[in-house]
Amino acid sequence: MARKKLIAGNWKMNCLLENGTALAKAVAEKVKAQKYNCDFLICPPFTLLGAVKKCLRGSKIALGAQDVHFAEFGAHTGDISPLMLTDIGCKYVIIGHSERRTDHGESNSLVKKKAIAAHQAGLITVICIGETGAERDASKTIEVCQNEISRSVPENATAQNTVIAYEPIWAIGTGKTPTAQDVQEVHAAIRSALAKKLGKAVADRMRILYGGSVKPNNAAELLTLPDVDGALIGGASLKADDFVAIAANALK
Ligand code: PGA
Repeated sequence: MARKKLIAGNWKMNCLLENGTALAKAVAEKVKAQKYNCDFLICPPFTLLGAVKKCLRGSKIALGAQDVHFAEFGAHTGDISPLMLTDIGCKYVIIGHSERRTDHGESNSLVKKKAIAAHQAGLITVICIGETGAERDASKTIEVCQNEISRSVPENATAQNTVIAYEPIWAIGTGKTPTAQDVQEVHAAIRSALAKKLGKAVADRMRILYGGSVKPNNAAELLTLPDVDGALIGGASLKADDFVAIAANALK
């Protein structure tokens, strides 16, 4: 089953107007200069969505946000709704990143509620899952991922409106990554869990990204595995050269 790879940048809480727009423009230029057979996505902080959207005009890079509320409008101080995201030009939204699950106590059921609302608004969700270092040491990686798939992913999710990102929490921002063999094993298990939940036809088409210390020098090894359909990139997405080199190295 051919799945088009997705190379996604998660800027997290980084960049101001000046360096954020410069970064987006640099990425757009570099992506335009080559014909990459993959999809690109940039997820800046909320404050930069409008400005980055302008920088991406005419490029094939999609815009995404890093979180969303489940309600349409209303008394939710500080929150942003799915409609607000589509209104400003977002196509994607990351949901349930481990930093949201940890820093904001987001549960699987909240993640699912957000995903349902995002889908209703026409957004593509990137639903994040992954184990802690302690869970990995206790050989619970696959069990944790199966549980998160079962509880965080909406029952009617499709391959068109949902992307899964497997991000081992101990690999995020640490420079450590699982072995290629471990990544493939976990991705295959995630695909089986998706097949159980959504049916094989959907699971075979759904993209499963790997995230956690993806860099230009490990991209080829990690992103050419049979069940890895792209990357969710944090630190390396803040450097245009590195971000685009990941795509170049992985798609050689
Ligand atoms: P990293 O972050 O690439 O800096 O490890 C990945 C992520 O958290 O999405």
